[in-house]
Amino acid sequence: MQKIGVIPGDGIGPEVIAEARKVLDAVTESGGIDLEYEEFPLGAAHYLKTGEVISDETLQRLSRKDALLLGAMGDPRVKPGILEKGVLLRLRFHFDQYVNLRPVKLYEGVPSPLAGDGRRIDMLFVRENTEDFYVGMGARVKKGLSKESMSITRRAYEAKFDVGVDLTDEDEIAYQIGIISKHGAKRVIEYAFQLAKKKGIDLVTSVDKANVLTEVYGLWRETFEEVSARYQIKKEFQYVDAVALHMVRNPERFELLVTPNLFGDILTDLGAALQGGLGLASSGNISPSGVSMFEPVHGSAPDIAGKSTANPIGAILSSGLMLETLGHEKAAEEVEAAVKAVLATGKRRTPDMGGKSSTSDMGDAVVAALRVP
Ligand code: NAI
Ligand code: MG
Repeated sequence: MQKIGVIPGDGIGPEVIAEARKVLDAVTESGGIDLEYEEFPLGAAHYLKTGEVISDETLQRLSRKDALLLGAMGDPRVKPGILEKGVLLRLRFHFDQYVNLRPVKLYEGVPSPLAGDGRRIDMLFVRENTEDFYVGMGARVKKGLSKESMSITRRAYEAKFDVGVDLTDEDEIAYQIGIISKHGAKRVIEYAFQLAKKKGIDLVTSVDKANVLTEVYGLWRETFEEVSARYQIKKEFQYVDAVALHMVRNPERFELLVTPNLFGDILTDLGAALQGGLGLASSGNISPSGVSMFEPVHGSAPDIAGKSTANPIGAILSSGLMLETLGHEKAAEEVEAAVKAVLATGKRRTPDMGGKSSTSDMGDAVVAALRVP
């Protein structure tokens, strides 16, 4: 038996998670898979009632799960960042979920903004999830700040750029530091190649900007070279700007892309657009030896919350990723096949795809399309 912690969260989170649960229940029952669920009522309601974002005790309980399934965090009544950072980032760091896995796949029957029919869009992003410009190191400096903070920044600035900074009264400096560690790069690139090997993927693309940001992405590139030498898989380097261009011009060329945190964040949103929108995009925050967390890419969508119009496909596909990561590959394939079948007929579509179906109509259709063994 495997234990799943479920965090429906805010806005449309509970609506889409309910559909993912329907599909999970159907596919695990027919496949003889034993999953036990426990719900954790984290999010705005809990925070407004108790003043607590997430307790140490809850973290303890979550740490005893085999995987977590999350809807979305964020509510207009709560200052932005409190729940998103307080829960999502907290969990990502607490469980060291250093891989963000983002399949970008365009299914038949889904309208994409790219011209041309029958284009193959099927790429898998492996994004580093803990380092780079997201380590939270930086500051803003202007005249009038304490002498001490001023001089530290100034020394750093001068040492780095060899220029005399003479701030005028109106001027201001902001800086933010990106950090890549060899250990951090190595483990995520290693994960990417292991995954490529397991899935029979032919080409691994490393994304960087080593021509300009020579220090951080230079180390990333070196590490990629080192790790990739141990695998008999075709590899290439691409600059992030070129990847953005190719993703639109000829997305067919990509299979698996491994990226540092910032570039991965941006490119995967481009990917979400290519695959038909946020409602269809799935993700996993993977801790290869710990507790991983699966969630649709979208947020809590307060504009459509409570209307039963949210597209649950992103959440359903995320639960499929969860099954795969837990070792239930066949069940995961069945979930994807069912989603594919529903999208291909085009009879059921939520409003974001130009249809009139409700959230639960969509979930029911996926359940109905599951292959009966
Ligand atoms: P959002 O992803 O919630 O919504 C953006 C737009 O896409 C909205 O118009 C929404 O209606 C639509 N949309 C999103 N998911 C959809 C779905 N499944 N079906 C149909 N339409 C869908 O992003 P937004 O509006 O920037 O943020 C809303 C809240 O969510 C904020 O509090 C934000 O911080 C939070 N957020 C949380 C995330 C998470 O929990 N992982 C990720 C992104 C945002
Ligand atoms: Mg993003």
